[in-house]
Amino acid sequence: MPPLVLHITGARPNFPKAAPVMDALAARGMRQLLVHTGQHYDDNMSAVFFRELGLPHPDVNLGVGSGSHAAQTAAMMTALEEVMLAERPDLVMVYGDVNSTLAASLVAAKLGIAIAHVEAGLRSFDWTMPEEINRVVTDRLCDLLLATSADAIAHLASEGVAADRIHLVGNPMIDTLLRQLPHLDARAKADELGLPEHYGVVTLHRPGNVDDPAALAPLVAALRDVADELDLVLPVHPRGRARLEASGLFEHPRVTATDPLGYRDFLGLVRGSAAVITDSGGVQEETTVLGVPCLTLRPNTERPVTITHGTNRLVTPESLLAAYREAVAARAEREGAVPPLWDGRAGERIADVTVGFLAAR
Ligand code: UD1
Ligand code: UDP
Repeated sequence: MPPLVLHITGARPNFPKAAPVMDALAARGMRQLLVHTGQHYDDNMSAVFFRELGLPHPDVNLGVGSGSHAAQTAAMMTALEEVMLAERPDLVMVYGDVNSTLAASLVAAKLGIAIAHVEAGLRSFDWTMPEEINRVVTDRLCDLLLATSADAIAHLASEGVAADRIHLVGNPMIDTLLRQLPHLDARAKADELGLPEHYGVVTLHRPGNVDDPAALAPLVAALRDVADELDLVLPVHPRGRARLEASGLFEHPRVTATDPLGYRDFLGLVRGSAAVITDSGGVQEETTVLGVPCLTLRPNTERPVTITHGTNRLVTPESLLAAYREAVAARAEREGAVPPLWDGRAGERIADVTVGFLAAR
């Protein structure tokens, strides 16, 4: 019987990463099971991605839902242990840096099951981010470290990870983007929302930006300044909804707030936009490939290739307005380059490495 790979997903950014990997492993005859932890559960944070990206229906949904870090991670671990004991997979494949990733890595490691980490080695070196903790611990526990960029390889090497466990495979999130390009209509959602030709897209969900009203206030003031010059559309992540509503930002006449959008609607809007203002990890990468200026409202990024190769730039509330003006003015001259191996074939490379790893065991 072919080996069994158990894929762990749960939060919005996991889904576009898992889809091309599952496809490529299916083409190689691998047995696969898809677990959804239930970390994200609203239709527009989860099910819409399964409909649009061709992911199989999850074989198991643990339904853990929201909670504190400890409560959520513990509930996932308890449920994942049962699944892994029952299924005895040959390999657990984890994605990115969310709590579902960490929970699955801890459980698999203690059961002696091999683990592969897609998007290994990214580092912000900012320990106030829960994701940084998840990344470092996950990488320490993994057998196969599948990296999207050369800087990630360097981080893993400097942490003492053996070179034969690290593979530069490219970026599966970009596989999904390139596959979905024919479905990304740059005007459909913009017309539906009544947006003019030039508009900007904003997403905010990092705890450091949206959890504390005192931290959010200068961001909102800076966004209002941009909105005086450019219509802004905000698909609002549930984490920041209440505080953003309370901030008064949505009362600006040139700000349009929406619920979170499905993949095609969202990236269609991004594709047609003059600029994106975000604190998302994945959106920094997608804008680089789409050639859309990206202004990242964070003091650091674990994805520096989006700056060195792409269209990304780190901004503060104080620098946002000037940075937006510069980015839009320079757009015609500055074509972002795509980082090496962000070519739509990362899923294939991940599948080849995985098949080789399992054959050698
Ligand atoms: C999580 C990830 C973050 C990732 C983000 C992507 C962790 C620690 N954080 O953050 O790295 O960038 O997902 O979107 O794993 N909620 C809903 N409906 C849902 C999901 C969440 O209303 O379907 C609300 C709940 O009030 C919940 C809050 O959003 O408490 C936060 O959800 P959670 O999954 O804990 O963290 P995110 O901020 O979404
Ligand atoms: N995304 C989406 N709809 C939205 C906002 C984001 O489909 O309203 C997509 C985005 O294009 C990317 C993924 O969700 O593919 C990124 O998720 P998110 O920003 O929540 O997480 P992060 O990448 O910061 O962990």
